[in-house]
This record gives sequence, structure tokens and C-alpha cells, in this order.
Amino acid sequence: MDWKTVIGNDLDQASHWLRKGELVAIPTETVYGLAGNALDEKAVVKIFETKQRPLYNPLIIHVADAAQARSLVLDWDAQVQALMDTFWPGPLTLLLDRSPAVPDLVCAGLSRVALRMPDHPLTLDLIKACDFPLAAPSANLFGRISPTTADHVRSQLDQRIPYILDGGPCRVGVESTIIGREQDEWKVYRIGGITLADLRPILGSIGIVAPSNRPDAPGMLPWHYAPRTTLTIGEPLDSQGDRIGWLRFSSLGPGVPGERQFVLAPDGDLYTAARRLYAGLHELDALGLDHLIAEPVPDQGIGRAINDRLRRAAAPRILKE
Ligand code: TXA
Ligand code: MG
Repeated sequence: MDWKTVIGNDLDQASHWLRKGELVAIPTETVYGLAGNALDEKAVVKIFETKQRPLYNPLIIHVADAAQARSLVLDWDAQVQALMDTFWPGPLTLLLDRSPAVPDLVCAGLSRVALRMPDHPLTLDLIKACDFPLAAPSANLFGRISPTTADHVRSQLDQRIPYILDGGPCRVGVESTIIGREQDEWKVYRIGGITLADLRPILGSIGIVAPSNRPDAPGMLPWHYAPRTTLTIGEPLDSQGDRIGWLRFSSLGPGVPGERQFVLAPDGDLYTAARRLYAGLHELDALGLDHLIAEPVPDQGIGRAINDRLRRAAAPRILKE
């Protein structure tokens, strides 16, 4: 179906389409999501089709409060409650054993469901207005750069969805941190907007699951988030004569025209860099250069999430999009 895609901030419009089983792009504090009714298999199928995402890669369900989360899972204990109390609404996704209420397709048949309560007033109001939770992957085509503005969404999903709910630029700018328990031990499956230092006071020590192609850990596909222009980290390849663009951390580098450089954080703040990361990649990608080089950022705090996304953007495409 070819839609005339409308961008606006009308909650009635957004909930109208969602109630009809259609898809709406929604703002969150991390990145924009491509949302549909999580409890309606047909809407969930549309998400996979629209995003061109393989069915083995499951979706995060977005809830308006902890009570709604509880209706979707089997296990609940003091630690889960403490995590929600501390970090929700916010960029923390919890993998919990799912209840039969959750369609298989949302979880790609896995035993756990991914849940989060996004920290964006428009989207929280929207979920409340719909009265059902929203399944939403990032609102980009599979394998491409995540969107942090309504315009980014339109550049990839124009005519594929009826409505983009515009909530302004995303405040955090990298996806949520995903955690779950394996034999009573908490593990990080994707590092994102909540840092390890944020989690330690609640969870103590916490392991990190390395990216892999294992189908049982689909969140960890090493390639992802990639611009169409090839990208390497740090050092130029053998690239003499190529037109190269640079993603820099805090200042312009020598010997390259300023318009081919994007400085993530002129203030040197890693949160600024995270907020501007995808905008920088979108902008450099749009220049149509031969190659992009990204300077890694300090590998601490949210800088770890930025470097993780850069590594994935640079990883060879093992599987074709
Ligand atoms: O910040 C975010 O998390 C954004 C916004 C829109 O909420 N969403 C997002 O969704 O990044 P997506 O689909 O691009 O990434 C979700 C990741 C996927 O890599 C997926 O494999 C993993 O979460 N995931 C989802 N459900 C899972 C499950 N049941 N078990 C294991 N991994 C899961
Ligand atoms: Mg994504």
C-alpha cells in the first residue's frame, strides 16, 4: 500500500491509525520507533514487512506503565520492580519471560519478551489513548541508520506508513540498553542509553554478551545501523584520492574541508555526542562520498554505546540487507 505520509503531532490521528491496525512512527527519547498494536499479529506482520526486517529478529514492546508490563510477563520480583522504579520511563529494555498474551511473532518464538517504557510524553499519552501496548523497532529500514528526527523517518519510510508523530529530535540519541537474566545473573545484550555505571548500584556486577550471529541472541547481530557509504573506524584505508568524510568527536581535524566533517560534541560531552550520532551519520551519508571515517569517542559511560554503534556500522555486511 502506498500511503500519503503525514507528519504531525496529532494524537487522535496517531491513535486512529493504530486502532485500525496500521503503523505509526513514534518519538521516544532514544530513537524513533515504527509502532503497531503489539497484541495484533496482523499489525506486527506489517512492522516486519514495512521495515524489511527478517522474522527471526524480535521486537521491543513499549508500555505506558509498570502495570501494563506486568500483564505481558510471567516473572516479577523485587529486582525487576527496582529496575522499573529506577529507570522507567527511560532507555532500559528488560527481557522477561513472556505471558501467553504476547504473540509469538513479536518475540520471534523466543521465551522472553523485551519491554520498555519510553520517556516521551507524546508517546506515553499515545499508548494510554490506544489501550494496548505498542511493538516498535527503530523506524529505519533494516540495517540502515536509526532515525532521531521525524525527517529521518520520512527519508526511509515515506509512503510506507500513514503517519509520523513528530515529537522533535530525540534527547538521548542511541537505542535503549537491553538487559536480561541468565541463571540469576544479569547480562547486557545491547549497551545503550543507560550506562553500566547507572546499573551497578542496583545490580552489582553485570556481564556483557558479545555481538554474535547466534539466532538465539538476535539483538546482538554485529552489523547494523550502517550508512550506505562504507565506514571505517580511526584510520583511513588505502584511500588515496578518495573523497572522504569524517565523523569527529569534539573538534575538526586538519587537512579535510570542514563541510566533509561532522563534529559530534563541540562541548566534549559524551551525551551531546550520543544525541547527535545518527544525525551526523545521516548527514555524512547524504554527501555521497567514497568513504567515511569515524573517530572513536572515549570508551566510557554512554561513549561505550556510541563506539558499539560505530563498530556495527563499520562491520562487514556478513548477511546482505
Ligand atoms: O531504544 C530502543 O530500544 C528503540 C526505541 C524505538 O524503543 N527500539 C529499538 O528496537 O532499538 P530495535 O528493534 O531496532 O532493536 C531491538 C533489539 C533487536 O536487536 C532485537 O533483536 C532485540 O532488541 N530483542 C527484542 N526482543 C527480544 C527478545 N525477546 N529476545 C532477545 N532480543 C530481543
Ligand atoms: Mg534498530
